[in-house]
Amino acid sequence: MDTDIIRVPVDLSDRGYEIYIGSGLLRKTASFVQAATELTHAVVITDSNLKTTHAQIVAENLAQSGITCDLLTIPAGESSKSLRILEELWGELLEIKADRRTVVIAVGGGVVGDLAGFVAATYTRGLPLIQVPTTLLAQVDSSVGGKVGINLPRAKNMVGSFWQPTGVVIDPLVLHTLPDREYQAGLAEVIKYGVIMDDEFFTMLENHVAEIHARDPEILANIISRCCQLKAHVVENDERETTGLRAILNYGHTFCHAFETVTGYGRFLHGEAVSIGMMCAARLAAMLDRVDEAMIARQESLLRACKLPVAVSDLDTEALLEAMQHDKKVEHGKLRFVLPIKLGHVELVNDVPLELVRQALSAPGTSPGS
Ligand code: GLY
Repeated sequence: MDTDIIRVPVDLSDRGYEIYIGSGLLRKTASFVQAATELTHAVVITDSNLKTTHAQIVAENLAQSGITCDLLTIPAGESSKSLRILEELWGELLEIKADRRTVVIAVGGGVVGDLAGFVAATYTRGLPLIQVPTTLLAQVDSSVGGKVGINLPRAKNMVGSFWQPTGVVIDPLVLHTLPDREYQAGLAEVIKYGVIMDDEFFTMLENHVAEIHARDPEILANIISRCCQLKAHVVENDERETTGLRAILNYGHTFCHAFETVTGYGRFLHGEAVSIGMMCAARLAAMLDRVDEAMIARQESLLRACKLPVAVSDLDTEALLEAMQHDKKVEHGKLRFVLPIKLGHVELVNDVPLELVRQALSAPGTSPGS
């Protein structure tokens, strides 16, 4: 195998797999599919933005390697993570006579990966899945770890499954054509890993903001591989989010999901809502005397340096609180938050007084994008 390829194993015994990271891998996807499975029929699922670009490259490479390939396209955007689009995809699989000898290949960002993954998990009770993430957010988070699913109109990611891929192929070069807003949104999840698990990584990010904005290939490969290592460690030790370890990846996400739900999934990119959610969570931690102002300032300053929004002021606080009640992290009606204690460390905290959550939500700040 090429020495320029970074391999990150996800050790889950019979469900284990490799994450391959390397420039130009998109054009070699077939070799990774063939390494992971002997199947000779592939369904590439992608979105309308990638149909004639990245997905086409993957489909051509598969065909050249002797793998029969069908290409299915969903509309780009979070609103495609719906029951209606899921049902359409099931129908299309039936139409093209997909069966248990078919491998699903998700080429796209988090929406495509989550939806195609759920199609793979459910069609004929399970098809193998290869994730080919093409956004930074999907490369560092959603393509790894097997969480797949759809949104309900009132609750993000509420219906789904754990369905591990049989391989993940990451080509950092695809990030060069990603729109600035999407790239920056992915940086929120990158920064999140530093805050929750790795203060040295956080400091490295602070020291390389210029290279990060320039999408320097070396820094991107370092960032993606470190995030994948951290995620692999979490998933290996708490695959189904039962011990509390995997829950730390949800730092900022209880707030984030409320922002996305209340705005109908159409206003914020997921990473933008994560960024604002991380600030709410840090403020909440400060109100509970769990973290000092210096930590909050460093988090805010790095988010801002990466051009991410850090607050939103025009949403109805009560509607946000109501949306939080539908979050999967609610247990017996009680909200549970992932809160920092210092850079690189977070804890799960139960029984947070609702009034403090309200205050964390309504703290003054700038609008997204400013
Ligand atoms: N994105 C959070 C998780 O995979 O658990």
